[in-house]
Amino acid sequence: MHHDKRPKGSSTGEPPKEGERKYLIGGNWKSNGTLASAKALIETLNKGGPIPANAEVVVAVPFIHIPLTLGSLRGDIEVAAQNCGVNEKEGAYTGEICAKQLVDMGVTWVVIGHSERREGFGMAGEDNELVVKKVKVAVDAGLKVMFCIGEKKEEREAGTTMDVCAAQLAPAAKLLAKEDWSKVSIAYEPVWAIGTGLTATPEMAQETHAGIRQWIATNVSEDVAQAVRIQYGGSMKGSNAKDLLQQPDIDGGLIGGASLTEDFVTCWNCCIRRS
Ligand code: PGA
Repeated sequence: MHHDKRPKGSSTGEPPKEGERKYLIGGNWKSNGTLASAKALIETLNKGGPIPANAEVVVAVPFIHIPLTLGSLRGDIEVAAQNCGVNEKEGAYTGEICAKQLVDMGVTWVVIGHSERREGFGMAGEDNELVVKKVKVAVDAGLKVMFCIGEKKEEREAGTTMDVCAAQLAPAAKLLAKEDWSKVSIAYEPVWAIGTGLTATPEMAQETHAGIRQWIATNVSEDVAQAVRIQYGGSMKGSNAKDLLQQPDIDGGLIGGASLTEDFVTCWNCCIRRS
């Protein structure tokens, strides 16, 4: 399945200037949708008009809807999976989809370490080490990764937000080679803001994003810290995206609920480079 078979969209505005980070707007459909609703949503996005030239848009769809999406979504929106196996190769791993299989299908991105997967919804959750192993397997297979981190409510209240983020990032500083980081975007998603309608204020989010960038500067490198995109996730929607995206260290969003509607189009149109 090749992207050039898909209808082309058009872009608007100026591409990022030298040294500026390009916004990354991810939609996370989670385990939502039927064949009919996925088709309808693809149609809505296809009719959504131009995407700003300083933004990249990606939708993370359920595995089962990947072929449909690759076959009918406009070519200027990339397609992500929401998880992949830690197994490097295909084989006897019942129920698992590995990064190489995703690449083979034409998928270019994967979301790894989403807080719902870390929590586990009735299954064992994924720990910090496992998440980073998956990031490495995915990057090595040729995927780009939205690597999710973020604190829970009680951790924020206890004042340990940056410690939690640092513990989630630490295995990546060890396992990823410097060049791997160009394939990684960090999605900072405070767990208490996910699906709750509660959003971090732009100032609160900016403070943590700046902390994460500083951590990368200290523990990976200054160059990686300047280049790496840090998306905000947690009830981002059309009505709050602009204020969040104006913050100097917020380079995009990972959007759940609002990515299931036309509101996602409003979000990508909020990628107006802060002056
Ligand atoms: P939300 O989800 O936008 O519905 O809060 C974000 C996410 O879980 O990635």
